[in-house]
Amino acid sequence: MKLKLRIWRQASTNAQGRMVEYELDGVSEDMSFLEMLDLLNEELTLRNEEPVAFDHDCREGICGMCSLVINGVAHGPQQTTTCQLHMRSFSDGATIDIEPWQAGPFPVIKDLVVDRTALDKIIQAGGYISSNTGSAPDAHATPAPKREADIAFDNATCIGCGACVAACPNSSSMLFTAAKITHLAMLPQGQPERYRRVKSMVAAQDELGFGNCTNIGECAAVCPKGIPLESISQLNRDMMKAMFRGDGK
Ligand code: SF4
Ligand code: FES
Repeated sequence: MKLKLRIWRQASTNAQGRMVEYELDGVSEDMSFLEMLDLLNEELTLRNEEPVAFDHDCREGICGMCSLVINGVAHGPQQTTTCQLHMRSFSDGATIDIEPWQAGPFPVIKDLVVDRTALDKIIQAGGYISSNTGSAPDAHATPAPKREADIAFDNATCIGCGACVAACPNSSSMLFTAAKITHLAMLPQGQPERYRRVKSMVAAQDELGFGNCTNIGECAAVCPKGIPLESISQLNRDMMKAMFRGDGK
């Protein structure tokens, strides 16, 4: 395949960025999107040009690092992570626009790399349980109903990639926060801090500059792990209960 790539280049957070065009030949349809960028970077390095900075780690859909907007869509056309997107999803001769996540709380560090520390700060505000340390308990020591356990598991698959924020016109992190809230709210271990958690995590996302959710649904449409809008409803139900409890918990 031969491609025309239009890639966002930005030397540093405060530098002016711009789209730069590259021709790339010899791309296999079996390459992942990141392998295609590796090929481009090899060529740029051989020409003594600055390679394109982009984030990645696991390259198997687990770590959530590979945050790219491809042809205007977070993670590209397949609703999967960028590392699991393959070049067979594009046509020979295609022009592909590649940009970083664009959201106020995710400043660009360089080229396609953004700082997603803000998501870690939301987790720090309450995305944990209190638990006495000691040896691991037996697997069935704390029974959880099957339906709730399944919902908890599905929400625990959120990898914190931030595509939901990048896709939302309001730059809202609501789907991410809702996945964490719902995961813990469904399990017995998540009950002691349940209502304190929802209040502090929602307050944290507001303080960090994420926008409000207005039920547009772009977040769920691009989420590579299929976190549903129902999780936001669960968050809203817990938030309502938290506001009327009045016991500070
Ligand atoms: S909810 Fe989906 S899109 Fe948002 S951070 Fe989690 S996995 Fe990524
Ligand atoms: S590189 Fe880890 S999810 Fe893509």
